[in-house]
Amino acid sequence: MISVGLWHLLQIFTCFLLLTQSFSKDDRKTYIVYMGDYPKGVGFAESLHTSMVESVLGRNFPPDALLHSYKSLNGFVARLTKEEANRMRGMDSVVSVIPDRIHKPQTTRSWDFLGFPENVQRNIIAESNTIVGVIDSGIWPESDSFNDAGFGPPPKKWKGICQNFTCNNKIIGAQYFRTKGFFEKDDIKSPIDTTGHGSHCASTAAGNPVRSASLLGFGSGTARGGVPSARIAVYKVCWATGCDTTDILKAYDAAIADGVDILSVSVGATQLTHNKYFKDVHAIGAFHAMKKGILTSTSADNLGQLGPYSTSKFAPWLLSVAASTIDKKFFTKIQLGNGKIYEGVSVNAFDLHNIQHPLIYAGDASIIKGNSSNARYCQENALDKALVKGKILLCDNIPYPSFVGFAQGAVGVIIRSNVSLAVSDVFPLPAAHITHNDGAQIYSYLKSTSNPTATIFKSYEGKDPLAPYIDSFSGRGPNKITPNILKPDLAAPGVNILAAWSPIAPISGVKGDKRISKYNILYGTSMACPHVTAAAVYIKSFHPNWSPAVIKSALMTTATPMRDILNHGNAEFGYGAGQINPMKAVKPGLVYDATEIDYVKFLCGDGYSGFMDKITGDNKTTCTPANTGSVLDLNLPSFALSTTRSKYISATFSRTVTNVGSAKSIYKATVTTPPSSSSLNIKVVPDVLVFSSLEEKMSFTLKIEGSINNANIVSSSLVWDDGTFQVRSPVVVYVPP
Ligand SMILES: *[C@@H]1O[C@H](CO)[C@@H](O)[C@H](O)[C@H]1NC(C)=O
Ligand SMILES: *[C@@H]1O[C@H](CO)[C@@H](O)[C@H](O)[C@H]1NC(C)=O
Ligand SMILES: *[C@@H]1O[C@H](CO)[C@@H](O)[C@H](O)[C@H]1NC(C)=O
Ligand SMILES: *[C@@H]1O[C@H](CO)[C@@H](O)[C@H](O)[C@H]1NC(C)=O
Repeated sequence: MISVGLWHLLQIFTCFLLLTQSFSKDDRKTYIVYMGDYPKGVGFAESLHTSMVESVLGRNFPPDALLHSYKSLNGFVARLTKEEANRMRGMDSVVSVIPDRIHKPQTTRSWDFLGFPENVQRNIIAESNTIVGVIDSGIWPESDSFNDAGFGPPPKKWKGICQNFTCNNKIIGAQYFRTKGFFEKDDIKSPIDTTGHGSHCASTAAGNPVRSASLLGFGSGTARGGVPSARIAVYKVCWATGCDTTDILKAYDAAIADGVDILSVSVGATQLTHNKYFKDVHAIGAFHAMKKGILTSTSADNLGQLGPYSTSKFAPWLLSVAASTIDKKFFTKIQLGNGKIYEGVSVNAFDLHNIQHPLIYAGDASIIKGNSSNARYCQENALDKALVKGKILLCDNIPYPSFVGFAQGAVGVIIRSNVSLAVSDVFPLPAAHITHNDGAQIYSYLKSTSNPTATIFKSYEGKDPLAPYIDSFSGRGPNKITPNILKPDLAAPGVNILAAWSPIAPISGVKGDKRISKYNILYGTSMACPHVTAAAVYIKSFHPNWSPAVIKSALMTTATPMRDILNHGNAEFGYGAGQINPMKAVKPGLVYDATEIDYVKFLCGDGYSGFMDKITGDNKTTCTPANTGSVLDLNLPSFALSTTRSKYISATFSRTVTNVGSAKSIYKATVTTPPSSSSLNIKVVPDVLVFSSLEEKMSFTLKIEGSINNANIVSSSLVWDDGTFQVRSPVVVYVPP
């Protein structure tokens, strides 16, 4: 793999998509043929798939044409020509045919910041019977975060395996998936984590508390997972070159069959352009997981800088998690030859001992004389090594930095940033991000003298008083597939997170960076996702029978509302219902439940009628009028309505809440509406709900009338309040950007 920075590495996991497909000698490529669920009463049968391949490729199809049969869901991996794939797509029993693609790779003050202390009241026995499935890059088994001291044998229900890996009573399952085969020398044929990402995510969710953990002294404290007694099952799908679609679905398939309780998936989008749920492996995997009572928590991707529609996890049956900041931040000072000092951000453990080094503007170090257009951004291969070596580089707005200047032998790098300085990157050399204005001043100093010099100091830890907020990178809604379903769902800490790391992976993610550490500081929606996973396990440990939708509802209706502090203009499309509050989520008062039939009704109403019998595996389930509902009536704990600017809106949502608070209780509805939207009238009928027992259900409607005036997004909320519990749902009316 080309030497890429940590940012790149994070992207492989939770974001980018290389448009590379898996090539082979002939013109066959790898596809997933998805057929829904196995017919009820029939179950797994590979012969189903053999006959499918036979009918398209003929009786004597090559032995490597049918590569794999999924078991928890009906589908298989096949090598097909484009024409064969099209024929497969046209077959009656096929829901979708998905080309294999590479997903580019997309701690723990954060729990205290969330108000979730280490000594929180726990249901230890239930927690230790809970299995967290982590689909990622594997795990570092020797980390103290995964030591099994004090753990009993795996829960009886566990059916998973340990593949070329020694499990313990903490890591109870570990498998790897690689349809393509092994050819990268950096890959290890086992669930061992060579990149660090998987260990980081797994320990944030369920790692043991480890005292005095730090990254080279930074972020020092107790690194701990949210549910340290829970068990971990690892499904490795991400390799040196990224994570492949077929393998991601294999991991969901195995995890469901193995009996995990919650799935944590900090892996990138299938493809940002997919327009239907059943062409997306995350939606498919999470759908089949939901049917078995397993909630899937996913990262909302790291492409926030692209603006709206930069998340890709849209399905209503999964949780998509945005990344919020915590109050911890790492600052790095820079001093110029003229004595002036600037403050930037990074996690810089290097010490230049206050020695001034020559400073050069990257635009003046171009390998193409007189053309600075690539060099000024310090793009790889654009810099002239001879000019850069031994100097500190000043670069303009690098979107994905961390490796710049390292290969060229620079002493350090100063990066002029055009976005907020919320995240502190780890670089393989002394480096810092600075503001655009400071960059302009450093540039003019550089141009004003014949011998410009600078030095970069070791970082120090400070506070970010604005936290929590959503930084630029965190993926945004609205929902590309169903505009009237809010995405992302909620936010959790995903910036400057300290968690376990693989000591064979460079801490900056840059090859050649020889520094190793058992703990690392990372940012990304990848880091936010396992916080929500843990919170979901925590809820489940008190309420083992709650459905995925109820757990999701509890997390969303108790979340702390957020504000658009950086003025990105995304509001709820940045943070959903707000930042999770795990302790509150255990006692939500009322919950919004939804089961398979509710999603079937929604899908029937949303144009998916052709294959409802297939995805349910029940040939009696078709989209009859009784089975067809409006998206506005899908029982979600959030309300989103897309409209046009001049249109007069009159829309009614139906919801049903279940009482899980106090048996006898009276809830009153309050709707808050910001003044700028005064022409919107939001009404709840009835606005009082009187419960006389637990588990009692009550229905209501929420009607929105009026028009949106000049705003792009009108944010409001509905709160059901009985004096003890406040059950809050975001209500968003918007004009699609
Ligand atoms: C098992 O894993 C080790 C690394 O732990 C690797 O070197 C070896 O090749 C793997 N063996 C097999 C048979 O996959
Ligand atoms: C400078 O280089 C860039 C990238 O190689 C190229 O697109 C551009 O045309 C060049 N500009 C000039 C003035 O040569
Ligand atoms: C920041 O700079 C990058 C690279 O030049 C550019 O693509 C991006 O649009 C800029 N963003 C803002 C907010 O100005
Ligand atoms: C529905 O499925 C059952 C069990 O798989 C099967 O016996 C029955 O013939 C099917 N009915 C139709 C109409 O396909």
